[in-house]
Amino acid sequence: MLVNTKEILTKAQQEQYAVAAFNVYNLETAQAAIQVSEREGTPVIIALGERYFPTVDVEGFSAMIKAMAEKVKVPVALHLDHAYEKESIIRAIRAGFTSVMYDGSKYNLEENIHFTKEIVEIAHMAGVSVEAEIGSVARGAFSDEEEGDGTLTDPQSAKAFVAETNVDFLAAAIGTVHGMYKGEPKIDLALLEKIRAAVGIPLVLHGGSGTPGDVLEKAIKLGICKVNVNTEVSIAAVSYLEKYADNNQMAHLSTIMAEMQQAMEPVMTKFVRLLSKK
Ligand code: 13P
Repeated sequence: MLVNTKEILTKAQQEQYAVAAFNVYNLETAQAAIQVSEREGTPVIIALGERYFPTVDVEGFSAMIKAMAEKVKVPVALHLDHAYEKESIIRAIRAGFTSVMYDGSKYNLEENIHFTKEIVEIAHMAGVSVEAEIGSVARGAFSDEEEGDGTLTDPQSAKAFVAETNVDFLAAAIGTVHGMYKGEPKIDLALLEKIRAAVGIPLVLHGGSGTPGDVLEKAIKLGICKVNVNTEVSIAAVSYLEKYADNNQMAHLSTIMAEMQQAMEPVMTKFVRLLSKK
């Protein structure tokens, strides 16, 4: 069933687990995420980034996710990931997304508060919850996200930001990167503890890929309720394609797509099990 993202994350916060938000771009990524979650009995957030709007039919995609969600027992949410434009946010709300992320992380605190507040007012009128980011997540290897400058979240700014914007979830920059780490991950869990003490709403960790399992477990104990995962799933699918191409056979596209979905599922299962561990 399709549910509001806030419902999923409020429960996760109360019971101290996290929900995977898988970045999807097509039928196979969506099927893999929903089927894995149904098998594991865990809620799931299907996340489509604004950057895929030129290639994905947003309204068609939303209708497809709603139809898929109706067929499973686990709660499914549909989230707009990293949106920079008000028009994209309004489009996603009209299309039936259950939450949106406004990414004003490139602005200074005052500007970020100003723009985020406006988005929150619009989204809340439609019953849609809002995620926002302060600080900025840097980009590692193989990522398809924007290059952030890696500024970590200041707890006092986070407190003011949440109070002034009335945002529902906060993406905190604590040293994770979008994509795979180039070298040892340096994740500041002490900072996360301070952000948790300053802010009461569910916290979001961007850059799930490559983040060590023990760090994810500790971060969940310190208030992370949503973990975004993109690159590791993409790597699994692309590695399958590379091996396939090396074999130099001619198969039908339908077979390749189905096998690519199978290649993504173990990575998603790994994250779902790790994040839902109580
Ligand atoms: P990864 O690509 O590191 O998994 O991060 C995804 C993400 O945070 C999307 O918002």
